[in-house]
Amino acid sequence: MSWVGGKKALRDAVLARFPTYYERYIEVFGGAGWVLFHKPPGGEMEVFNDYNSNLVNLYRCVRDKPNKLKYKLRYILNSREDFDWIASLHKRGLFSRFRDVDRAAKFYQLIRYSYASGLDSFGCQPHSMWSDFPQIDMAARRLQKVVIENRDFEKLIRQYDRPVSFFYCDPPYFATEDYYKDVGFTEKDHIRLRDTLLGCSGKFLVSYNDCPEIRDLWDNPGVYIEEISRLNNLAQRYDGGCRYAELLISNYDTTQRVGAINQLSFFNEGDFYL
Ligand SMILES: C[S@@+](CC[C@H](N)C(=O)[O-])C[C@H]1O[C@@H](n2cnc3c(N)ncnc32)[C@H](O)[C@@H]1O
Repeated sequence: MSWVGGKKALRDAVLARFPTYYERYIEVFGGAGWVLFHKPPGGEMEVFNDYNSNLVNLYRCVRDKPNKLKYKLRYILNSREDFDWIASLHKRGLFSRFRDVDRAAKFYQLIRYSYASGLDSFGCQPHSMWSDFPQIDMAARRLQKVVIENRDFEKLIRQYDRPVSFFYCDPPYFATEDYYKDVGFTEKDHIRLRDTLLGCSGKFLVSYNDCPEIRDLWDNPGVYIEEISRLNNLAQRYDGGCRYAELLISNYDTTQRVGAINQLSFFNEGDFYL
């Protein structure tokens, strides 16, 4: 599903830079999970986290009660009046009063029917909830063995940190903190994230917007900063070909995986014909 800051366009680039070996995969700022859902499940432990409790409740219902959730969604109207009522409950922080499946269905309604997934204004787009059911079933299967957490990033990283841990972090981008009102990320949190990650014993990969503040913040020994750019979908209508610059920041060599693939194909070619 779409989500503010979702990494749909960057997911291939991010996955290609994962370390070749880790025993724990921790997605610290999960959002819509574009990277987790793109990542093939392996034998490692997987943890998916987000501080937004409505979002995490939705994932837990998708994983543990998909049929009940689909049953609730079946009767949701794509209507401005319904949307405005649900959006006003959300704005007043009243969602936690609902039982889990009801709360999950209402939050999904907000994501699906809001303009640009901003959760506050009606999107006026034709859409059938029923068409999402196969995806809900697929997501339920993918999440079966995933630990779903609802913690602030610092506590989460400290809890799961081991030399064999790998943290993928996709925090709110610099100067977009206000888009995540539900969780209250501030400018100081960028520093807190850097300090937490620099103190950890596992590997990390962080995605960020390319700006001088983030480059300065992460200018540290042992830290790799790679520039990467992608098509800026929002700007294509008025500026065709316009690109958006992003940074991938890590504490390990992100070309390991490409090297490992090349090495494998080098050996395979010779071996098969002996
Ligand atoms: C850029 S979005 C992540 C998008 C995600 N990678 C995707 O592909 O959809 C950042 C996420 O960080 C979450 N977040 C904000 N503050 C947080 C915190 N202190 N700890 C953990 N998650 C937080 C937000 O709720 C939001 O979902």
